[in-house]
Amino acid sequence: MKKLMNNLKIVSTGSYTPEKVMTNFDFEKIVDTSDEWIVQRTGIKKRHVVTDEDTSDLAYKAALKAINKVNYDTTKIDLIIVATFTPDLMSPGVSNLVQAKLGLSNQDITCFDLNSGCTGLIYALNVGASMLNSGKYNSALIIGSEVVTKTVDYEDRNTCVLFGDGSGCLILENTDEDKLAYIYATSQGELERSLYVDKYIHMDGKKVYLFAVGAMEKAIKKVLADSSLTISEVSKIIPHQANIRIIQSVAKNLKIGMDKFFINIENYGNTSAASVGIALDEYLSSKKHHENEKILLVGFGSGFTYGAALLTL
Ligand code: ACO
Repeated sequence: MKKLMNNLKIVSTGSYTPEKVMTNFDFEKIVDTSDEWIVQRTGIKKRHVVTDEDTSDLAYKAALKAINKVNYDTTKIDLIIVATFTPDLMSPGVSNLVQAKLGLSNQDITCFDLNSGCTGLIYALNVGASMLNSGKYNSALIIGSEVVTKTVDYEDRNTCVLFGDGSGCLILENTDEDKLAYIYATSQGELERSLYVDKYIHMDGKKVYLFAVGAMEKAIKKVLADSSLTISEVSKIIPHQANIRIIQSVAKNLKIGMDKFFINIENYGNTSAASVGIALDEYLSSKKHHENEKILLVGFGSGFTYGAALLTL
C-alpha cells in the first residue's frame, strides 16, 4: 500500500447523540451486572440510545450541526459518505437519505455508504480524501452514524452494556494550504467470527481485546512513520472508544501518557463508526484555537479492520 499524502482541510465537525440515556444502573435491572463491573472492565458509565430516531436522523443532525457551526455553503457539497453497519434500510443508503434531509436532492452529489465496522469513519476518510485529491470532488461530508442498539441483545450481558447510538460528521475540502493528511486503512480478514453481527452483535471479547491493542499500536506507528512525525509532535490521539483498558494498554505499550488520548467513553459507550467522529468534535469544541495542530485518529473493528489518520488542523 502506497503511503497516502493529501492536503486536506477539516472545515467543520458536528456530532449528535439521542436524548435518552441508559446508565449502568439501568442495566442492573435488566441483566446480572453491576455499575462497578462495567466501569472497572470498560470505563463506560452511560450511553445514549434512540427512541424513535434511525441512523439517517442521527447522521442528518450531526451534519446539520457541522454545517451551522460555520454557516457552510451547502451548494459546495459534492460528496457524502456515511460509514455505518446499522443503516435504516438495506437500500437506499443512509447517505442518500441525508442528502434528502438536508434538502440537497437536486444537487449533483455522489452518495454512498461504507461498512467497515467500528473503523468505518477512518475508512470513509481514506476513501473521501482520495476522491477529493483526485480533483473530481471539492467538498465532502464524511459521517459515521450508528444505531448500534438495533443489534444489541438485551439478554446478553457480555455485549449489551457496551454499546450506544450516535453520529459524528466532518466537512472536508481540498486545500492549497499545507495541511498534510496521512491515512492508513487496512484489514486482517478472519473467518472465525470473533466479532460479527447477524440479528445481534456477537463477539469473543478477549480475542477482540488482544487484536485491538496490537492493531491500534501498529496503525499509530504506521502513520507516524509515514508522516515522519514523533508522538510529541501530535497534540491529541483520538481513539475508537470501545474500552478504556484497550486504550490504557496501547498507551502503556507505546509509552505514551494517557493525557495524550482524548477519552469520552464514559458518556457514550461504544458507538462504533460514530465514536471517533463524536470524540473529534468534542475535542475541537474543548478549546478555541487548534490551528496547525496534528491529531491522530485511530480505530479497529469487525473484519477485522483497523487504521489511523494523521490530520493537520
Ligand atoms: N456484568 C457482569 N459480569 C459480566 C458481564 C457484565 N456485563 N459481562 C461478562 N461478565 C462476566 C463473564 O461472564 C465472565 O464470567 P465467568 O468468569 O464466570 O465466565 C467474567 O465477567 C469475565 O469475563 P471476561 O470476558 O474475562 O471479561 P473481560 O475482562 O475480558 O472484559 C470485555 C470483557 C469488556 C467484553 C472485554 O473483553 C472487551 O472490552 N473486549 C473488547 C470488546 C470490543 O472492543 N468490542 C468491539 C466491538 S465493536 C463492533 O465492531 C461492533
